[in-house]
Amino acid sequence: MLVLGIETSCDETAVALVEGNPPGPGRIINEQLYTQLIEHQEFSGVVPEIAARAHLERLDALTRDLFETTSVDWGDIDAIAATAGPGLIGGVLVGLMYAKGLAQARGLPFVAVNHLEAHGLTARLSHGVACPYWLLLVSGGHTQIIQARDVDDFVQIGGTIDDAAGEAFDKVAKMMGLGMPGGPKVENLALNGDPKAFELPRPLLKKPGYDFSFSGLKTAVRRHLESGEIRSEQNMADLAASFQDALGDCLMGKLERALEEHVENISTLVVAGGVARNQYLRTRLEQLAQAHEVSLICPPMSLCSDNAAMIAWAGIEMLSRGHHDALDVPAKSRWPLRSSSKLHT
Ligand code: KG4
Ligand code: ZN
Repeated sequence: MLVLGIETSCDETAVALVEGNPPGPGRIINEQLYTQLIEHQEFSGVVPEIAARAHLERLDALTRDLFETTSVDWGDIDAIAATAGPGLIGGVLVGLMYAKGLAQARGLPFVAVNHLEAHGLTARLSHGVACPYWLLLVSGGHTQIIQARDVDDFVQIGGTIDDAAGEAFDKVAKMMGLGMPGGPKVENLALNGDPKAFELPRPLLKKPGYDFSFSGLKTAVRRHLESGEIRSEQNMADLAASFQDALGDCLMGKLERALEEHVENISTLVVAGGVARNQYLRTRLEQLAQAHEVSLICPPMSLCSDNAAMIAWAGIEMLSRGHHDALDVPAKSRWPLRSSSKLHT
């Protein structure tokens, strides 16, 4: 199967051609990605209206480039898949409408993709991972511990009660005046820092259950910044490293508990979402996986943050199950993962 994928839910405008069959791995034939950095830089965060306009201005040219730089043509394509949510609604609408227009004009089936499911299925595109698997989904908007029991059955074991992990990285970067993109800036600064230099809280870590809370951690970082004790580059690096370490403790602690307390015999741990690019967290995940005798699958960095290959792949997964969508399917700013069972703890 060969599918054109379109992603516009946040600040990446992306299109990709992906070929393959579940469980994968698939083959990325070609892709084009534009990251809106200059558009949002002066606001230190993504401005939804600006994002939507930038998607609108770039999407058609990116799609033309995609076809001009490959031997694939429209006749080879089996379907068009686009993110239909969750995400910033203006941007989602731009990509969704564009994809529907193409599907109508080319007479191709259309698949409305859940962006979170696409993140969750990325390890099948990159590594052909079989279900079931543990999934740590850590992105700018979501932080969840999930059992991916099937490609359309994601059972959430734990989640964040306030900020997402990526959001915490971005807010801390903003407070520290590091600019965008927040996550990589904090990670880079932390490389030269002492992770034990500042004593920061690990919210909910000692409490039962599998949920996260990062808002108090972020506030603790702000207090240190406002206290006047951060006077040197080294102090800044130490604070960044201490923040990353505290957030890592929370992620690893809850994940470890989930692995220990749920004895469903799942032997693979998959990580997904933009925060999964973080090398410090990847190293800690490797240690955790080793200690718990599960194999850790990390998709390549480029497939962790938002991209269109994962959207095309999610389209392939759905088509292979005989599913596609009508052209009146709506854009959704919120859209939880599909699950056959309710949360069980
Ligand atoms: O998955 P993604 O590209 O978009 C969403 O669906 O949210 O994730 C973006 C998030 C941002 O919050 C960004 O700061 C974070 O991923 N991120 C990182 C790193 N690279 C991206 N966080 C920590 N360390 C990184 N190296
Ligand atoms: Zn994402």
